Amino acid sequence: MFVSLEGPDGGGKTTQAEQLLRRLKEAGRDALLVHEPGGTDLGVHVRALLVGRGWTSIDPWAEALLFSACRAQLVTEVIRPALSRGVVVVADRFADSTLAYQGAGRGLPEAQLQTLIAIATGGLRPDLTMLLDVPPEVGIHRNRAAGAAAVAGQTSFFEELHLSQDWNRFEDEAIAFHGRVREAYGRMARAEPERWVVVDATRSSEEVAAELWSVVETALVRER
Ligand code: TYD
Repeated sequence: MFVSLEGPDGGGKTTQAEQLLRRLKEAGRDALLVHEPGGTDLGVHVRALLVGRGWTSIDPWAEALLFSACRAQLVTEVIRPALSRGVVVVADRFADSTLAYQGAGRGLPEAQLQTLIAIATGGLRPDLTMLLDVPPEVGIHRNRAAGAAAVAGQTSFFEELHLSQDWNRFEDEAIAFHGRVREAYGRMARAEPERWVVVDATRSSEEVAAELWSVVETALVRER
């Protein structure tokens, strides 16, 4: 089974993805967590270019193509082989992020992005997508607070590549950008309710984790 977590910045996806992986393993399932962009050597290097503030401007199509390049590598190298071994794959972001950020956020045409996504994924789509929904004001505020707290003593490949520690380029975007991203996610979820589940991510981390687990547990039972 292939599960993706999506949503605006600051919805707590990364923490929730880790919790979900832990619960899957406790339940005796072979499970793997991947984080986009990243998860392969190529992905890790391209990620530094994409989300770091070391680059002042990236053309929207260049951005979409780089995210897609990372995705193609991740699908071929990691996701497909794992799925074919029966592993439950949890993706912290997947192709819907490109539709939300490069489509609604940057204004690239959806039809062309869909073609690009189909090429990069070879048609692979998540069986279940959980939207961690959070208003932009709340999400960005949460991320800035977390970023400030993380600066002390942390070493990362961003430093090795001489990129700024305070690195998520997307958080620099105006609230309006993040508003469009959130609306696009809402539209995608409404258009395909058989794949999407919307989760209110303004609640406590424990409440959100419990809901995500109950959704995944139900999906796993159905799969059998
Ligand atoms: P990251 O630190 O992984 O943020 P998050 O924890 O919110 O996932 O940074 C990834 C950023 O890249 C995030 O702001 C969303 C953006 N993004 C895109 O614009 N397009 C994409 O296709 C993907 C996968 C991510």
